[in-house]
Amino acid sequence: MSIDYSQKIPNNVDLSSDKTLQRALEHWQPNYLQWWAEMGPTGSTNFDVYLRTAVSVEPDGWAHFGYVKMPEYRWGIFLAPAEKERKVNFGEHKGEPAWQEVPGEHRANLRRIIVAQGDTEPASVEQQRHLGLTAPSLYDMRNLFQVNVEEGRHLWAMVYLLHRYFGRDGREEAEAMLERRSGDADNPRILGAFNEKTPDWLSFYMFTYFTDRDGKFQLCALAESGFDPLSRTTRFMLTEEAHHMFVGESGVSRVIQRTCEVMREHKADDPAKVRTLGVIDLPTIQRYLNFHFSVTIDLFGADQSSNAANFYSAGLKGRFEETKQNDDHQLKNDSYKILELQGDRLVEKEVPALTSLNERLRDDYIRDSIAGIERWNRVIDKHGIPFRLKAPHKAFNRKIGTFAGVKVSPDGRVVSEAEWNANVRNWLPNDEDRAFVASLMGRVVEPGKFAHWIAPPAVGINRQPVNFEYVRFN
Ligand SMILES: [Fe+2]
Ligand SMILES: [Fe+2]
Repeated sequence: MSIDYSQKIPNNVDLSSDKTLQRALEHWQPNYLQWWAEMGPTGSTNFDVYLRTAVSVEPDGWAHFGYVKMPEYRWGIFLAPAEKERKVNFGEHKGEPAWQEVPGEHRANLRRIIVAQGDTEPASVEQQRHLGLTAPSLYDMRNLFQVNVEEGRHLWAMVYLLHRYFGRDGREEAEAMLERRSGDADNPRILGAFNEKTPDWLSFYMFTYFTDRDGKFQLCALAESGFDPLSRTTRFMLTEEAHHMFVGESGVSRVIQRTCEVMREHKADDPAKVRTLGVIDLPTIQRYLNFHFSVTIDLFGADQSSNAANFYSAGLKGRFEETKQNDDHQLKNDSYKILELQGDRLVEKEVPALTSLNERLRDDYIRDSIAGIERWNRVIDKHGIPFRLKAPHKAFNRKIGTFAGVKVSPDGRVVSEAEWNANVRNWLPNDEDRAFVASLMGRVVEPGKFAHWIAPPAVGINRQPVNFEYVRFN
């Protein structure tokens, strides 16, 4: 499973044995680079960045670290090793050998799933493209760029599937992936959260914590797919995703740590006072959390979905940890509890498990997210500050599903329009919050130096010291 780097497109799928496919992808490659030049990290073309590049897809030691100019990053096609005699593990085809080619009857749905996943990857690069200008340290700048090049590679992963398995319409979808733009009114990215701005570094850390975690859960569900090439490519993507979530979790944690240190040092707990000390007050961090959490859980889709049921029954998209579940993996007679609005109350209701698979994945996601919020709370506790961060109720600020259009407070009460309007500035980042956070942003480029509002990390990347020169400017 070693990766062939002598090729124009590095790969471990023996690309050179399929000349037509190789030509098609080599034709897409310059368009991709053109997109990167236009929409990738601003002004970074000549930076030497200490990046990791995959050298093998085996679990141990797949990464090589070294200085790379980002446009020269070796984007390529890497699939996790095939599992011997892998089966379709759920749905109507359960027990059949996993598919190595696309089953005709499921072609349209599979393409749709792959396009939806693929579209998020360049979207996040676009959303983050200006952040290099205000990186709080070289360490953080390097992490941002690492995330960016890997999201670019995730696009390659999906584009490979489209080209290899979907013929002409696959190639058209691959082109369209380079034409849509995050936030563009005429040709936006497919999913809402990927059209939001990521204007500052607190947003970036929240995004990589919450929204890259959506990526993890979607990829985990696709890694269960009966379509084996999709399973193998998403399994390798997951190994890259782990670092993105680390950047988010540790980033928010370092912001919190710095805030708490300054609060203690100055015996300050009034948010306005805390701001005058040049760090981000905890209620603002809570509002950012509320925003990113609620926008991200919309990505799982409607709570009741016949598409989700069809994808599952067809064996295309499984549950989180499908093969670890102790049931028949068909869910024909099973039920699941979802929330429903009755009058002005949210009440639980039993519905068929098959049609509520989006909700189930969302609930799995929420559990995972909350675990990290609790780790952030331990940082606050350690400083003896009586404040707790909390995930908002899952009905808060929703735009998709049953709760779209229903006004629900972060603690889960259905509220009137008037109550919402009177409180929304305490629940979601308001203009002043955003302006304040923006006012703190400014590029710090001296190795080992960090912006005032964030604590240094405990350790560097790849066992390098924290004051390592992670980015060299030319
Ligand atoms: Fe990704
Ligand atoms: Fe990611």
